[in-house]
Amino acid sequence: MKGIFSVKPISDLLNETKSEKSLKKVLSPFELIMFGIGAIVGTGIFVITGLAAANYSGPALFISFILAAIVCGLAALTYAEFASSVPVSGSAYTYAYVSLGEIWAWIIGWDLILEYTVAIGSVAIGWSGYITQLLSNIGINLPAALVNPPAAGGIVNLPAIIIIVLISLLLMAGANQSAMVNNIIVIIKVGVILLFILLAAPHVKAANWHPFMPYGTSGVLHGAAYVFYAFLGFDAVSTTAEEVKRPQKDLPKGIIGSLLICTLLYIGVSVVLTGVVPYYKFKDSSAPVAFALEQIGINWGSSLVSVGAICGITSVLLVMSYGGTRIIFAMSRDGLLPEPLGRVNRKTKTPILSTIIVCVITASIAGFFPLDVVSELINIGTLAAFVIVAIGIIVLRKKRPDLKRSFKCPFVPVLPIISAVLCIGLALLLNNITKLRFVIWLALGLLIYFLYGRKHSLLAKEIAENESQ
Ligand code: ALA
Repeated sequence: MKGIFSVKPISDLLNETKSEKSLKKVLSPFELIMFGIGAIVGTGIFVITGLAAANYSGPALFISFILAAIVCGLAALTYAEFASSVPVSGSAYTYAYVSLGEIWAWIIGWDLILEYTVAIGSVAIGWSGYITQLLSNIGINLPAALVNPPAAGGIVNLPAIIIIVLISLLLMAGANQSAMVNNIIVIIKVGVILLFILLAAPHVKAANWHPFMPYGTSGVLHGAAYVFYAFLGFDAVSTTAEEVKRPQKDLPKGIIGSLLICTLLYIGVSVVLTGVVPYYKFKDSSAPVAFALEQIGINWGSSLVSVGAICGITSVLLVMSYGGTRIIFAMSRDGLLPEPLGRVNRKTKTPILSTIIVCVITASIAGFFPLDVVSELINIGTLAAFVIVAIGIIVLRKKRPDLKRSFKCPFVPVLPIISAVLCIGLALLLNNITKLRFVIWLALGLLIYFLYGRKHSLLAKEIAENESQ
């Protein structure tokens, strides 16, 4: 049993990034912040805001956003310290490996695979909804059977599958091209959000903000757990560590910078959104931002926002797919998943096979499952990762006080403890069925670890060799 708690030496990790199996170093701090915004701003602000206002938060929606931002912000500080001291691929998975031991690394890696694949699937479903709507606005009606999963009376959600395949092809072409495409998309989506705020702000009526908390404090808290989704993705920045030019300095800038910008945008949108339309009117709207502009008679703005939303959701897909493949890449490089998954293509320097696998799994989720079955799983998976990372920071400070940390999380251990407690609190607010599904996923993961990962772990082999000498 003892091998399962072995920690990976950080020096080994840093050497690995210089060896044959390494990725191209192309990303700058600006690209990282763009990458972060690309990963964060998407379905959450363009689709989930309206539902959160109507069902949980009411006009106090911006408070839910602030609460969720605080939870993510604290986690971001812990992620940034890890990213600056252990700048290699794999994010929380790698952080757990160097601080808490292999079994925790496996748990978190397995958990991140769930988070990323389900998130990619759910975001693609949102993308499909918007494109279907936009096409029907210009008179092209896709057959219902081809845009809905079996549970919703259709056969397959084809647009969702198509976008996932296109994104995967882009990723296989290499990080540089993908980063450039991402930059353009981010400019468009931030542009439409600012446009929305500018156009709608003059139409705000203070009367719409009363009652301020129609579902009370508990509604606002539920709202926070719900809109948490809108912040997911900042951790994807840390998965790019091996492709960053100066990871120790630039990763913290990328993570914290992108989270800050997104929080400001979300607060702006939620204050204006609930100010122009009474919160309860968003109950059936799957495009609340466009809907609000329509309600105040700015139809051209509404169409423009829809196009921007499609771009925005596309870039979330791009970054999430990128992050997901890098987790699998890192786990396979360590021997915990089969070796071919960690192979990097010589020409493009990208992990082709792990990209194809993520593509197939996420396309299956997006094509055949309804959104409500999968969406809450994303939040619980991420919150679990945040908790393990926070604990990992405390452990690594004790075990390796000498480690060079170009960014230090303030107030350790108090801040990471608060971060972990808040994440657990938020996770407990989610539905029981979500908690059960999560436990089943973890149990399945542990089974695979003991049947495969543990036997093939490179670290375990290394330790056994050293002991036999
Ligand atoms: N934060 C991502 C989004 O809102 C998941 O689309």
